[in-house]
Amino acid sequence: MLMVDWPSVMHIANVGKFSHRARRDRRQRQDADVFAFAARDALALVGGNAYQVPAGRRDGNVSVAQETNGNLPPPSASVNQLTQMFGAKGLTQAEIVALSGAHTIGESHCSSFSNRLYSSGPNAGQDPSMDAGYVSKLMQRCPQQPAQQSTVPMDAVTPNSFDTNYYAGIVANRGLFSSDQALLADQTTAAQVVGYTNNSDSFQADFADAMVKMGSIGVLTGTAGTIRTNCRVASWST
Ligand code: HEM
Repeated sequence: MLMVDWPSVMHIANVGKFSHRARRDRRQRQDADVFAFAARDALALVGGNAYQVPAGRRDGNVSVAQETNGNLPPPSASVNQLTQMFGAKGLTQAEIVALSGAHTIGESHCSSFSNRLYSSGPNAGQDPSMDAGYVSKLMQRCPQQPAQQSTVPMDAVTPNSFDTNYYAGIVANRGLFSSDQALLADQTTAAQVVGYTNNSDSFQADFADAMVKMGSIGVLTGTAGTIRTNCRVASWST
């Protein structure tokens, strides 16, 4: 689970923690696996493919939020940066485009994209790559001094469905983050984005495959790591 950003992991893990699957056989099921099951089950609940998740991950000895920093691309990332960062973990550019489709569900804090609405400095103003109507709507929800907890849905049309509207939004210049909209600026990724808007099945299949692959990144096996008795607490015993 190294590459999934923490908001999403915590979001889906909350669903998983209370699922029958997590409660059953609790002592033999590692928390790292629970996270992967939770992601799969949460997606299935909102319309995603119920893909097969291989089990057997062991848990880390420590959990340090700062350790994710170097692994997570910023919302301002270009396609090249995304390709480089995810590529370093073994994911292809096509897999990144598919995984980005996770932004069809969930919410973002205003602070994650407000630079696209109110930038300062030599290029002050609104991001010209963003649809003007969308900019106005976002400015209403996110004034220049928004309440710290203000959020907006990342897919403005169907925020609670796992569908291809995230990609349709990008085609309409309504990608929320620069890293979303950047997928339209590159010829190869743009073709994939447009392709998904016409073929939901291929998005669902590619997303499921990429999630399984991502779930195998940095997996601890054998005697590495530990098996946590409490998911929130790192334990040193194996
Ligand atoms: C491509 C690079 C990615 C970038 C730059 C990125 C960036 C972000 C940002 C900035 C937020 C909003 C955080 C906030 O302000 O609260 C967010 C939310 C989210 N991301 Fe990503 N993300 C990326 C990839 C992914 C991937 C691969 C997944 C899952 C497979 C994912 C799933 C989510 C979900 C579900 C949320 C919403 C969380 C919530 O509702 O609380 N993201 N992402």
